[in-house]
Amino acid sequence: MHTVAKERMSSVEMITGILSLALLFLVPTITAHVHEASSDLNAVLPNPIREVTDMDGEGVIDDLRRGLLNAEAHFAHFVKKFNKEYSGAEEHARRFSIFKKNLHKALRHQKLDRDAIHGINKFSDLTEEEFHEQYLGLTTPPRSLSQRTQPAPILPTDDLPPDFDWRELGAVTPVKNQGACGSCWTFSTTGAMEGANFMKTGKLISLSEQQLVDCDHECDSSEPDVCDSGCNGGLMTTAYQYALKAGGLQREEDYPYTGIDGSCKFDNTKVAAMVANFSTVSIDEDQIAANLVKNGPLAVGINAAFMQTYVGGVSCPYVCNKQNLDHGVLLVGYGAAGYAPGRLKNKPFWIIKNSWGPDWGEDGYYKLCRGHNVCGINTMVSTVAAANIQTDDH
Ligand SMILES: *[C@@H]1O[C@H](CO)[C@@H](O)[C@H](O)[C@H]1NC(C)=O
Repeated sequence: MHTVAKERMSSVEMITGILSLALLFLVPTITAHVHEASSDLNAVLPNPIREVTDMDGEGVIDDLRRGLLNAEAHFAHFVKKFNKEYSGAEEHARRFSIFKKNLHKALRHQKLDRDAIHGINKFSDLTEEEFHEQYLGLTTPPRSLSQRTQPAPILPTDDLPPDFDWRELGAVTPVKNQGACGSCWTFSTTGAMEGANFMKTGKLISLSEQQLVDCDHECDSSEPDVCDSGCNGGLMTTAYQYALKAGGLQREEDYPYTGIDGSCKFDNTKVAAMVANFSTVSIDEDQIAANLVKNGPLAVGINAAFMQTYVGGVSCPYVCNKQNLDHGVLLVGYGAAGYAPGRLKNKPFWIIKNSWGPDWGEDGYYKLCRGHNVCGINTMVSTVAAANIQTDDH
């Protein structure tokens, strides 16, 4: 059944892709105004978000092609903008060569992902391996995951609002930054618990990722080799399991983030949020939306393949492996109609909180199209409920 659904999905995606390509060729006049700006150095996107609504896929592709012809100047601009410092001329040359490869990659991504904007961002001088090792960190989920964790009850989906955003309702802390540490899974976990705690208490408290990095070595019960291991990766469901056993999570300010593996300094008298229970959400995207609305922000695993070059817009790549989940993030909302210049119709999207700082993507957020299981967004979704903290008044 699973496979059938997937095959149907991919042919739908393919048809949509072909249609949108055809549409792009039909509307060249609409894109004309974009080209004028292209001679400007800033136009090739070292400026992460140039007016997203003024852009379209074809315009960005032209920009990137021009950028490649003038890569040296763009690299100089990039180095300055992101305060990059390299140890000597050799390293500088090596990074420039990687930068050029990443410009080619952004161009490839742009062709496959017309509704988003790909280009230069702060990761443009990293190889794919470096990016993977330093900025992701979701361990490959064991097959048994969904069987081991209890499934969330099926919810009604008739009355879901067309747009929904937990940020507007005060359930989401500001975007954080994992730095060069494969600890994405801890940020996904704290984000979900911050939301759950907000649902329970009405208070938004930023929670400690470092506690999870240092103290959570929980292993999957059915695959004892799959364990949470700080900057080397982990899983959100095992992190809830840890928090349940340990008694909860401390505040961010009481156990601040360092981004390096350290010894555990957990103080159980300073617990700020506790787990009551957690469950995995169905792969149906309407169920995911219903759980999001009812329970708060959800921890999700995704394939981050298109994120290294992402600058803005709704990412909806024609090809993005649904199995290869390598990044843990937080689903905080959805929209009915994101700006999608390549299509005549606007696209529904998910709003995803990332942990690469507010200077990545759209103020730290990623928009991914909704309803096509793109990049495995529906594959590893979990929800957590918070328990009341016992106060020691008595
Ligand atoms: C999880 O805990 C919450 C809060 O205590 C409770 O309302 C809910 O019924 C529990 N859910 C499950 C699936 O056990």
